[in-house]
Amino acid sequence: MSKQGGMNRITTSVVREMKAKGEKITMLTAYDYPTAALLDEAGIDIILVGDSLGMAVLGYDNTLPVTMDDMIHHTKAVARATKRAMVIGDMPFMSYQASVDQAVANAGRFLQEAWAHGVKLEGGREVAEAIHRIATAGIPVMGHLGLTPQSVHQFGGYKVQGKEKSAAERIQEDAKILEDAGAFSLVLECVPSGLAKQITGALKIPTIGIGAGKDCDGQVLVVHDILGLFDKFIPKFVKKYANLGPQITEAVKKYIEEVRSSDFPGPEHSY
Ligand code: KIV
Repeated sequence: MSKQGGMNRITTSVVREMKAKGEKITMLTAYDYPTAALLDEAGIDIILVGDSLGMAVLGYDNTLPVTMDDMIHHTKAVARATKRAMVIGDMPFMSYQASVDQAVANAGRFLQEAWAHGVKLEGGREVAEAIHRIATAGIPVMGHLGLTPQSVHQFGGYKVQGKEKSAAERIQEDAKILEDAGAFSLVLECVPSGLAKQITGALKIPTIGIGAGKDCDGQVLVVHDILGLFDKFIPKFVKKYANLGPQITEAVKKYIEEVRSSDFPGPEHSY
């Protein structure tokens, strides 16, 4: 780990070394200060301020309405909470597709305004130039291949990608193109485990899987999914490690009951 600012911060070289040593990289999303502080305290390596913010926190049906200003606002809160984890800001729909100059400027906002340590963007060869220019500007970039949710309308839904031979070959080629363009790591979402294994073996940069099997160099999930805080849609690749939703409802019901019955506040809560 680097001693940036006197702290043991996970950096791009740390994750590269972890791949070399065969140590798994752990990544989760977070969108606010208290959750990010808990994940950091627990020892997560990377916190992704994902544009899954749209569904998990903002109540949208997909990630497309999420704006740069939304992402900057939430990334600021997450970055303020972390001491050790690397914070990656997810570039939202239309923040990098229109031009490479726009991509570099928006990537820069994540570091300059929100204090993120890097950015992530979706896509293959079509974003290679943007990745190259962002990386050349000194901004660590994570790629994202397979099921790229910002293309949901082009895919016709959230479906496993790379099942046919030609699609698998294209994803493999794209992975190498993104590595050559300067990406420091690569998310592989919803691709067959065998394909993810092949790509992981062929690349020098680490792969982080979500619905891509156990052979990726690391794993990522949406924090609301693993904690049972979001049940509108639960993909097969999610494992629930807690079920906090019903616990919150129970606690709030108890509070309502005690306020109505005048059992709260008690003398110990009064001045
Ligand atoms: O937005 C997000 O949370 C993501 C991860 C699921 C990889 O892109």
